Amino acid sequence: MEDRDKQSSLGRRTVLMAGAAALTAGCAGESTPRTVSAKAQPALDARNWASVRAQFSLTSSYAHFAAFMLAAHPAPVREAIAQYRDVLDSRPQDYGIGFYDLQRSDDSRKAIAGYIGVRPQEVALTDSTTMGLGLVYGGLRFKAGDEVVTTEHDFYSLHEALRLRAERDGVVVRKVRLYENPATASTEEIVRRLVRRITPRTRVLALTWVHSSTGVKLPMREISQAVKEINDRRDRGRRVLVVVDGVHGFAAENATMSDLGADVFITATHKWLFGPRGTGFVWAGADVWPMLQPTIPSFSRQAWTGTPGPLADLNTPGGYHSFENRWALPQAIAFHETIGKATVAERIRSQATQLKDGLAKLPNVRLVTPRSPELSAGVVCCAVNGMEPDAVVQQLLVKHGISAGSTPYRESFVRFGPSIVTSPDEVERAIKAMASLR
Ligand SMILES: Cc1ncc(COP(=O)(O)O)c(C=O)c1O
Repeated sequence: MEDRDKQSSLGRRTVLMAGAAALTAGCAGESTPRTVSAKAQPALDARNWASVRAQFSLTSSYAHFAAFMLAAHPAPVREAIAQYRDVLDSRPQDYGIGFYDLQRSDDSRKAIAGYIGVRPQEVALTDSTTMGLGLVYGGLRFKAGDEVVTTEHDFYSLHEALRLRAERDGVVVRKVRLYENPATASTEEIVRRLVRRITPRTRVLALTWVHSSTGVKLPMREISQAVKEINDRRDRGRRVLVVVDGVHGFAAENATMSDLGADVFITATHKWLFGPRGTGFVWAGADVWPMLQPTIPSFSRQAWTGTPGPLADLNTPGGYHSFENRWALPQAIAFHETIGKATVAERIRSQATQLKDGLAKLPNVRLVTPRSPELSAGVVCCAVNGMEPDAVVQQLLVKHGISAGSTPYRESFVRFGPSIVTSPDEVERAIKAMASLR
């Protein structure tokens, strides 16, 4: 795909129709179905990055290398949210009463399932990664003596969910360091350090696909394969589950659940997908859901009526949500799929590589994230000699019009996230800005 304004030979692919169809189909109870107005949205030429960027209202006064942290909404998502909000604010009965959200939430579930290559009934909807981590680590059914192996590199929410669980019922949590120096980490080292901490008592590996502390992407396939070999020698009831916080790989990498080989996948959809804020999900295979005890009462039909149904429904927290956001998830996924999963992943990968190659040449900068795309995704961490990360971030923004972030960990780094809202030209600008820092 070209950066310059270029009409695709295949013609314009737009997400307008996908969005309109989803909204129209979702309006049970309305005598006149509402549709998305084509006029309200700028047309998307999905083969042109400038056109993709134009779908966002993000200011052009700086480059957005921290946009992956909390999603800005592209036009089809903004439009869908506005439509749903208008109806909720004016004619809420149009969406029915009682099992208020079920049909549209099901559409969101189906869209997620199609995107990650699983069955919709295996997906529980949540509001964030943190909510998913709390539900899973709070809900896993452990027996006395069971242990969890996690790592030193994960986000606060994962460690805190495990700490609360350990405090509640004494589950033993062991932390392993997977690499001494992230820049030189290797698949062999990571798998070896992890596997040697697995004991007959280990029931869960609590991992993070892409470490927001360092940018290291775990070799999930190799880890899952190593765990499978251990599990092949165990009774099924004592197998080790691989549970993954996938938030910085989801929609940044072109992968399905079977590519990863994990048993449970927890993510938000409000980061690299640029999905509606306050949305996320937990996926587990049908054979794994029985190992999870629901924490928050479900509003599913089966919870109310006792009719049998998928356990993922019982693990989807009930209560009324910000439905206009949840229901706009199909538009976010349609937007992403219209551009193409592989195309998005390649865009992120090529800019991250360009950025790392540039930073690695700077005498004043230490690159923290591995150069190899095998062990990294879109998160790029680095340090500037003699400068605190927050001071770097401040200077980048104020003097150079570059928005980056600093990592909220004991050892903090400067962090960039090239994505579909940044460009190779902006990456060049970021490298030059980093070179000038003193
Ligand atoms: C690895 C990781 N997991 C989870 C989160 C929190 O995600 P959420 O805001 O969806 O709870 C973050 C950072 O925001 C993160 O870096």
